[in-house]
Amino acid sequence: MTVPREAAERAKALRAEIERHNYAYYVLDAPTVPDAEYDRLFHELAELERRYPQLVEADSPTQRVGARPAPEFSQVTHRTPMLSLSNAFGEEDVANFDRRVREGLGRDEVEYATEPKFDGLAISLTYENGHFVLGATRGDGYTGEDVTGNLRTVRSIPLRLQGGHPLRLLEVRGEVLMLRRDFEKMNERARAAGEKEFANPRNAAAGSLRQLDPRITAQRPLRFYAYALAGLEGRAMPATHAEVLELLRGWGFPVAAERAVVSGAGGLLRYYNEIGAKREKLPYDIDGVVYKVNRLADQNILGYVSRAPRFAIAHKYPAQEEMTVVEGIEVYVGRTGALTPVARLKPVFVGGVTVTNATLHNEDEVRRKDIRIGDTVVVRRAGDVIPEVVAPVREKRNGSEREFVMPRRCPVCGSGVMRLPDEAAARCTGGLFCAAQRKRAILHFASRRAMDIEGLGEKLVDQLVDAEVVKTPADIYRLDVATLAALERMGEKSAQNIVAAIGKSKKTTLARLIFALGIRNVGEATAKDLARHFDGMKALMEADEEALQQVPDVGPVVAESIARFFAEPHNREVLDRLQQAGVKGEDEGGRHHVAASAVSGKTFVLTGTLPSLTRDEAAALIETQGGKVSGSVSKKTDYVVAGAEAGSKLEKANELGVAVIDEDGLRRLLEN
Ligand code: IVH
Repeated sequence: MTVPREAAERAKALRAEIERHNYAYYVLDAPTVPDAEYDRLFHELAELERRYPQLVEADSPTQRVGARPAPEFSQVTHRTPMLSLSNAFGEEDVANFDRRVREGLGRDEVEYATEPKFDGLAISLTYENGHFVLGATRGDGYTGEDVTGNLRTVRSIPLRLQGGHPLRLLEVRGEVLMLRRDFEKMNERARAAGEKEFANPRNAAAGSLRQLDPRITAQRPLRFYAYALAGLEGRAMPATHAEVLELLRGWGFPVAAERAVVSGAGGLLRYYNEIGAKREKLPYDIDGVVYKVNRLADQNILGYVSRAPRFAIAHKYPAQEEMTVVEGIEVYVGRTGALTPVARLKPVFVGGVTVTNATLHNEDEVRRKDIRIGDTVVVRRAGDVIPEVVAPVREKRNGSEREFVMPRRCPVCGSGVMRLPDEAAARCTGGLFCAAQRKRAILHFASRRAMDIEGLGEKLVDQLVDAEVVKTPADIYRLDVATLAALERMGEKSAQNIVAAIGKSKKTTLARLIFALGIRNVGEATAKDLARHFDGMKALMEADEEALQQVPDVGPVVAESIARFFAEPHNREVLDRLQQAGVKGEDEGGRHHVAASAVSGKTFVLTGTLPSLTRDEAAALIETQGGKVSGSVSKKTDYVVAGAEAGSKLEKANELGVAVIDEDGLRRLLEN
């Protein structure tokens, strides 16, 4: 079939446009069109090429993924060896480098081209007559592997050089890497799919480049940055390295935006500090900066020693990743009772500090990362971020490593540990008794919506718990004026007021007392449900999970949580002592006296500002008639009571078709 001229022209125009968008997106990092438009152009070109196969060219953007999986990579001998750089670790090394360069050139001051040292993989790209023909890894520096098929999929590598007269030969050196943001996204996807995650962008880039099937590499977000010219025919060499980078940029290669030209050792160190300060914010990982004598003629004079140039040096930053050994995994109990495994590490200097421990967050995280006691692990500390155990080094295992098991008893108080099916954290069930949770538990107990003990605030609770005067809420009822007045910043009068408030709190409602206990998953609404259903605290304490589930809105999770709380002898003891102290959660009578009303058994959600009732008042009115007030709108909601400036809850109600009433509507229901 002959190809109509319009089709050939359209294909050509599409190719040029797609490459232009590729360049804007992958090289300039400044997308010109939305993804959907790009996809549309790409699809149109692919369709044209399918209809007229004669139109297909090797450089077409559609041909980036074309190569078949290879059984192995073939070897490539580098025309010019790919050398390494000597390292400088401190100012003295840099001063010595500059001195040797000045002596070698017989000059007082030398100009340097400076750039970041990318933490990726070195590769070499060969172009013949403007076309990309060969891409190779560094290998041992003399022979590498042919990864052309994989590199063709990297969209920041031009398949055809931009701008004017094609060169006979061009050999470009640079680094393949993964941008941090792309790496994070890729790992997030892997995690969601339950697949293996990569430890860092460098490993991810290495793993992706070494795929035998280019179709896999094509799905990995690899980038390329050029930093050197190793061969050029068909054009004169420029005079400086800075010009080399400009030329490379003009041909369509990405080069580091942070490149600069500086003078002398002072200029080098200023550059080092400037980039060091920006390190965390760069789009890619770097492990140092590279200094190169700017004039290429000077580079030739200086030449090479063994395998490294005399004209260049890498100045390293402190490593952000190091290896060390997990000597143990300890469990810490937080204020909420959450148990957190923490790796105790053989001290290691990383990211500028000595790290001796690192949180492992929770049990699942330990399993997911497969970190065992005795493992050699990679530890990372970047910037001010807290140190992290990245991954075990499995090759270093010798079989003596032990798996971590979450303890079944709380390491602080010895109470049972439980983990709810939908929670990541295992928790101590000690609640009132556990020293780790004491301050929070007591503050909650005394809070306004619980026992409402005025004056027993955070500072006072801290002092009382630290002095071990108060260990459980029951101890509050043994406080006297003398003990309180002896505390810091506490006068006789305030002490008297607090003792009076404590005395007053003894007479309260059963719902408040239940809520005050701080049982996990038992909020105010559930406490009220429970108080209505059970005839006093004793009945609640005796109820098994089945009985608990008879209460409206109490499901298996809440029932288990309540049953566990009361099964804990420490908690029962606290309740006994509260009772001895005269604390009474009196039945409000709700259970017996609720008359069948239009409100009874219905679930309400309050939102916005009502004209005359506060939310608490409205809730109290609803609850005294046997209704229930919930915090969020669901299909189970019967009415949403909306006042002024009602927001998302009202929207949700409309979405779900839940009845919406105002304050008057509520009053009418209450009168029925
Ligand atoms: S120039 C003659 N510039 O560092 C040496 N190398 O130890 C030419 N690297 O394997 C290297 N960023 O992968 C140069 N801006 C940069 C670099 C850089 C990273 C890597 C490169 C090489 C290693 C040298």
